[in-house]
Amino acid sequence: MKHLLSLLTTTPQEISELLNLADQLKYENKNGISHKRLKGQTLGMIFQKSSTRTRVSFETGMYQLGGQALFLSSRDLQIGRGEPIEDTARVLSRYLDGIMIRTFAQSEVENLAKYGSIPIINGLTDFCHPCQVLADLLTVREYKGHLDGLKLCYIGDGNNMANSLIVGGLKTGMRVSVACPEGYDPDKQVLTFAKPYQGFRLLRDPMEAAADADVIFTDVWASMGQEEEAAERRKVFEGVYQVNKKLLSVANSGCMVQHCLPAHRGEEITADVFESHAQEIFDEAENRLHAQKAVMVTLMER
Ligand code: CP
Ligand code: NVA
Repeated sequence: MKHLLSLLTTTPQEISELLNLADQLKYENKNGISHKRLKGQTLGMIFQKSSTRTRVSFETGMYQLGGQALFLSSRDLQIGRGEPIEDTARVLSRYLDGIMIRTFAQSEVENLAKYGSIPIINGLTDFCHPCQVLADLLTVREYKGHLDGLKLCYIGDGNNMANSLIVGGLKTGMRVSVACPEGYDPDKQVLTFAKPYQGFRLLRDPMEAAADADVIFTDVWASMGQEEEAAERRKVFEGVYQVNKKLLSVANSGCMVQHCLPAHRGEEITADVFESHAQEIFDEAENRLHAQKAVMVTLMER
């Protein structure tokens, strides 16, 4: 594995190895064992969008592994003034040992990998959020003991989270049901990938998607970069595409609820459901750290 660009280009075996390594690193972290496996290395973190979890978990993870992380806001980089990503990639490859990038177009992440000569990690694009979904799979596996055969349900916008959950869920043997409003479907490339899987369903009715679910995911109605569409989206999603008690009543008993955060209580999830599943949701947030350490060790360890 050279890069983490998307789960579409990550094999089921690579995903399973990343999850196993994340488990091991989490155990070591909890028991005060530190191996400094990336001693002396530097990760550059390019952010063209806001972040709490991604920035802090990568920076802390890199520090725990014996390296350091540089926060590079696109506002301050020459990228913000139009320097091409192709040139940025070749320059940063001369200084750094790896790059994490959060941006809009997936093509930018792919161009960094194409023109650079160091590992590139996708920290969220409009297309996908692979680091988040590795943490999500890790969390579900911790709670349920396995992933194979479980039913994963996603309610809401067919966005970056939906795309990565469909691919990650199916590649780890889960059944995946998605409920999105018409016009807000997951990416075509993802639907083409999912089509041959018997366990995949794309539906309009959240209740149908949530039936017998073992874990229900949701995400915001308007993602970063879609602020201007927020009012229009609210009209489409409101009152229907929400994780609430009624939806959970048709799921399996012990059904988990996951949210990548930040959450909008009263929109995609009710406050009571959020709070009654807070332990699982904040375990999920914590697992960003362990999953990403596994990604960095896999891609960067010498
Ligand atoms: N879930 C997630 O990626 O959070 P941030 O936007 O805070 O990084
Ligand atoms: N879909 C959301 C996820 C945030 C972590 C967004 O892209 O803004």
